[in-house]
Amino acid sequence: MKQVHPSCMPSILERWARSARVDVRQASRMKRLLAVTGLLLWMPLLALAADKPATIVPGALWHDRQGEVINAHGAGMLKAPDGRYYWFGEHKISGKGGNAAHVGVSVYQSSDLLHWNARGIALPVSKDPDSDIADGAIIERPKVLHNAATGKYVMWFHLERAGHGYKDARVGVAVADAPAGPYRYLRSFQPNGQQSRDMTLFQDDGGIAYLFYSSERNATMHVTRLTDDYLGTEQDYQRLFVDQWLEAPAIFKHAGRYYFMGSECTGWKPNTAHGAAATSPMGPWTEFGNPAQGDDAALTFHSQSAYVLPMPGQPGRFIYMGDRWNPENAIDGRYVWLPLQLEGDGFRVDWHASWSLDEAQKTHVPSR
Ligand code: DGJ
Repeated sequence: MKQVHPSCMPSILERWARSARVDVRQASRMKRLLAVTGLLLWMPLLALAADKPATIVPGALWHDRQGEVINAHGAGMLKAPDGRYYWFGEHKISGKGGNAAHVGVSVYQSSDLLHWNARGIALPVSKDPDSDIADGAIIERPKVLHNAATGKYVMWFHLERAGHGYKDARVGVAVADAPAGPYRYLRSFQPNGQQSRDMTLFQDDGGIAYLFYSSERNATMHVTRLTDDYLGTEQDYQRLFVDQWLEAPAIFKHAGRYYFMGSECTGWKPNTAHGAAATSPMGPWTEFGNPAQGDDAALTFHSQSAYVLPMPGQPGRFIYMGDRWNPENAIDGRYVWLPLQLEGDGFRVDWHASWSLDEAQKTHVPSR
């Protein structure tokens, strides 16, 4: 029997035309007309679907507006003076080697925290093998602040030079004139001559900014003030959570109180989160235990804190932003974002298989 290529097979319409003795050319014109009208009818619906208020699905693949999976681990968030959010993160590549920096710090931009535009690489690794930020360096947990006095955007990150393992224990600093960069690498150092691995920045009302960093072989967290230009640190520092072995710090503030969320120290493996509160970033800080509640709370829902962001338009509510690392295939690390609720003297984070910022608003009962 003669094989007929599927594309040569007569369409249902053409077959109908033949059986009904309608001109086949007329039928195929009708077919094109129906196809075009169908598309026109569907287009507004497709556009609506692309822009519908998205749901946050913790741990799921999250695509940017360009259709690529978002690649920004160890997140740092900036709400820039342009009113938009900027998500900075470690750009990872496939495999175990992807845990180190081979591309740089990526940046995404959004006005609703749900739909993200890829803005490229804010700080690329250097082609110069002698650079601190050469290909293969460890560049983790990038955080960016806007300095209102200088007008500059300043990025800080945990830096280990290529081939040095985790022995350098430094912070790196880069600066830009626009939120998405390009950032110009300035230098790396140990704040106050102290080791600095996992770190975060916190900008207080009035512009005073702080660096929190795991120091003393990660046994003790330190906090120090940034200089007014945010390019260095002041000399005073405080030792926090002494010998508690905490890392992955994230700091936020509500109604004059400061809150800390961090993790224990188990490499890429998830562990139990720690929460604390204080009336000054420099301490003293009072620990209140694990803020995660419910099933899998002992492993922070298989994630590690990276950032806590105020929930837009909902004073007293925050978004916990964590990483579910995949050290065997670094690029496949996932993002776990969950609503964070103040409660008593502390706060709590509960698991939601999926949730939306709008729903969070509807169900919100202010606790203080
Ligand atoms: C846990 C840290 O939080 C990560 O940023 C990374 O440094 C890994 N340890 C490396 O094992």
